[in-house]
Amino acid sequence: MMRKIYQKIIPRKIPSAALDVGEREIKFVYLDPWHAVPEITTVARYPAPPGVFGEVINEELLVDVLDDMVNEYLLAGTEIISALGGNKVVTRQINLPRMSAKKLNKAVLQEVEKFMPVPLDELFVRHLVLDENAIDNRKELNILIAAAPQATVYQYHALLKRAGLTLVALDLPALAIWRLYRNEHAASDNVIAIFEIGETKTCLVITKKGRMKYTRIFPVGGSLLTRSMSEAYGIDLDSARKLKESEGVIINENDLAGVAADKMRIDLSLRDGLGELLREMRRSLEYYANQFNAEPVDKVILSGGTCNLPGFDVFVSEALGLPAEVARPASLSFAREGEFSFDPSLAMAYGLALREV
Ligand SMILES: Nc1ncnc2c1ncn2[C@@H]1O[C@H](COP(=O)(O)OP(=O)(O)OP(=O)(O)O)[C@@H](O)[C@H]1O
Ligand SMILES: [Mg+2]
Repeated sequence: MMRKIYQKIIPRKIPSAALDVGEREIKFVYLDPWHAVPEITTVARYPAPPGVFGEVINEELLVDVLDDMVNEYLLAGTEIISALGGNKVVTRQINLPRMSAKKLNKAVLQEVEKFMPVPLDELFVRHLVLDENAIDNRKELNILIAAAPQATVYQYHALLKRAGLTLVALDLPALAIWRLYRNEHAASDNVIAIFEIGETKTCLVITKKGRMKYTRIFPVGGSLLTRSMSEAYGIDLDSARKLKESEGVIINENDLAGVAADKMRIDLSLRDGLGELLREMRRSLEYYANQFNAEPVDKVILSGGTCNLPGFDVFVSEALGLPAEVARPASLSFAREGEFSFDPSLAMAYGLALREV
């Protein structure tokens, strides 16, 4: 009886759990949304089996890991928000003249036909108007289009179900990142570029006053630094990654004096990879700058696992000539230390989990 009454008063439970299947790590986050600032109540992390999101999703490998996770953390039946990994979702940002909703839908589909090799009736297509610009008395809409093969979405839904998880929403990485750092960019007049740098991909989101101006995913990440170290030391990739994560450091000019030789060697071994990563980050900022009406970026927020590398923020800041920091988002309340403290590796999962909050 009591239960029935409660169910009437309290709306359906808000799903505030998220699963982020990364190339390096599978991450699950559960939030308690009944606080002014949501708190993190569960964090689960498992090494990702290699190549899960290849040409086709490797179901068996993924389900094995998810089974372990669901059993260990008692997650059976949990409703989750997730994003498709790999390059399964294709996004494009385009300008179209302002038109009726019906015409816009049609124009979006015509655009999708140009860049997707899959027939339209086998795709899910969504679009989002990011901005409206006036060009010579004409109104132009800046539109973000996302398209994913229906078969992939159904397959992902079904494999999560096999592991006992219910997928209630698929989100875009860019929206998750935008949402996570909302407090930082909404209250600011600055143009802020957020880079979420993972293992093999980086998501760039450029915002101003809470609006997303530009987004792009490009295929670079921490694996470049691992490779760079592996070549410099002549060790395999796995050992190089471990060395990077435990000893990795970028020494900046101001700290050069008195640095031990082994630290110098680590720094040097990372430089090739860093150069490549930075080149791609710069190129992405150039793509943005070439957009109509693009205002220069004032500031950079760094996120994603690669930003755990000590000295990375200072390095990026100097290389781009912009202030850059690994900012702790104010949208969540973090513990001071331990598993519920802020970890930039979990940015995507945090942002996804905030979707319905
Ligand atoms: N302390 C650290 N120092 C340097 N690099 C680190 C550190 N911790 C994690 N990384 C690196 O961060 C990367 C993993 O980041 P993240 O977990 O965001 O990636 P992912 O989500 O699994 O991959 P992707 O988003 O590309 O699919 C790896 O390259 C890892 O080596
Ligand atoms: Mg990731």
